[in-house]
Amino acid sequence: MKGVVLAGGTGSRLYPLTKITNKHLLPIYDKPMIYYPIETLVAAGIRDILIVTGGRNAGDFLRLLANGKGFGLAHLDFTYQEGEGGIAEALGLAEHFADGKKLCVILGDNIIEGTIAEAAEAFRQQERGAKILLKEVADAGRFGVAEMQGSRIVGIEEKPLQPKSNKAVTGIYFYDATVFDKIRTLVPSRRGEMEITDVNNAYIGEGTMTFHELEGWWTDAGTFDSLLRAGTLVAKSRRGVEKPEMARAGAAD
Ligand code: G1P
Repeated sequence: MKGVVLAGGTGSRLYPLTKITNKHLLPIYDKPMIYYPIETLVAAGIRDILIVTGGRNAGDFLRLLANGKGFGLAHLDFTYQEGEGGIAEALGLAEHFADGKKLCVILGDNIIEGTIAEAAEAFRQQERGAKILLKEVADAGRFGVAEMQGSRIVGIEEKPLQPKSNKAVTGIYFYDATVFDKIRTLVPSRRGEMEITDVNNAYIGEGTMTFHELEGWWTDAGTFDSLLRAGTLVAKSRRGVEKPEMARAGAAD
C-alpha cells in the first residue's frame, strides 16, 4: 500500500500565519506540521509516499523533506495542485503514483496520538472498496459526519448544521484504485470544491465502505484554535513518553 499526504490549499483560515508559508510547514510543538502525517504513515508500514502540495511555497517541502530517507522512506514523490479545487481534486493528481495499488490518504493537518497500523492491516486484507477512520467529537458540525444505522454507516454529511451523530470522519482514508474513477464523476460543491465526502458516499452507495474507530486523541490544525490544541496535545503526549523532565516541570504549573 502506498501513502498520499494532501498538503495543498492556501490556509486562508490561518492568515496571516500563512501569508509567507504553507499551513503544513507551521510548527506543531517541536516539528513542522507535515512531519506528523508522514510519521503516521511510516508507523503503519507505508514507505512509498506522495506529497501533494500547492501555493507559493511548494519548493520549501522539497528542501524540508528532501528524499525522505530521514523518515525511513523508500521513496518520496511530490506533485503540485494548481488553485483551490479541494481535497478530492488533489487526490486525483495521485493516479499515476498509485499505479493501481491501494492507497492510504491523510490530510496534512491531521495529527493523532495513536496509530493507524491496525486499520491499515485490516484494509490490506479487504478485497475492495474503502475504509474511513471515525472519531467521536463534541463539535461534529465542523467535519464530515457519519450517519449510522446500528453498526452500519449509511452516509456522510459535510459540515452539517444538525449532525446526525457525534462521529467525525477524520482526514485519514483508505482507498482502492477505483477512487480515481469516482473522482472523475464529481461536480464541485457549494463551496466550489471537489469534496472527499462525495467520494466516500460513492463507496457507501456501492456497499464497499468499512470503518474503524480511531483510538487516542485526533485533531486537525487548520484554525487558530485547532492549531493551538494540536501543539498542546503533542506537548502533553511527549511529557508522558520522551521527556520526563518536562513532566516534572509541568507538575509544578
Ligand atoms: C476536511 C473534510 C472533512 C473532514 C476533515 C478532517 O474538512 O472535508 O470531511 O472531516 O477534513 O480534518 P476541511 O479541513 O477541508 O474543512
